[in-house]
Amino acid sequence: MKFFLDTADLDEIEEAASWGALAGVTTNPTLYARTGGKLSDFHNHIKRICDIVDGPVSAESVAMTREEIVRDGRELAEIAPNVVVKVPTMVEGLAATRTLADEGIPVNMTLCFSVPQAILAARAGARYISPFVGRFDDISEDGLEQLSNVVSAIGGYDFSESTVNHEQVEIIAASIRSANHVTQAALMGADIATVPFAVLKKMVQHPLTDRGLDAFMKDWEKVQNA
Ligand code: E4P
Repeated sequence: MKFFLDTADLDEIEEAASWGALAGVTTNPTLYARTGGKLSDFHNHIKRICDIVDGPVSAESVAMTREEIVRDGRELAEIAPNVVVKVPTMVEGLAATRTLADEGIPVNMTLCFSVPQAILAARAGARYISPFVGRFDDISEDGLEQLSNVVSAIGGYDFSESTVNHEQVEIIAASIRSANHVTQAALMGADIATVPFAVLKKMVQHPLTDRGLDAFMKDWEKVQNA
């Protein structure tokens, strides 16, 4: 499994990238709004992220028609070679994805909540599909079960004839709220988990690691004083 950071915060991205395990970044309009960024600075902001991260950086189109999404997508793809255009899973989004994929522009289909949506996204040429986990949990449904269904359904077929450069479509477990979400997503075979920085920090922690480290440090003190 690869890890993407789900944020538009440059400090978080710098810090996570320095840990050596970061494969990409996903942003969305909400995450960019949280940075306090202006519309006029959006493309520059995505460029800054692309300069930090040596991997796919998803930047979302907020357009609602296929023509506008394609125009947005082409402009976003010009920012840097590692930009992936994030497109919502809806009819206009599917049509735009087909056009962008045919032009060699990778698309991450977002706001995916069902197996049929995921299959349509793959057939439309999406390079990545982002089923959301936590938002199902928010409405008292089982987000991990939904993710597992998508992973099984997509993994059973070869969609490479539909995608950019015939690469296999990859499933990004999105809307991740806990380290356990990451564990379960990895066990079911999701290709990528995109995680908020708070979850990434929790992923590295374990009380037995802390306890073990504490004991090693105390014992090493004894060695030094012997
Ligand atoms: C996916 O790429 C989205 O940015 C993200 O995972 C949404 O998560 P949320 O439900 O925590 O907003």
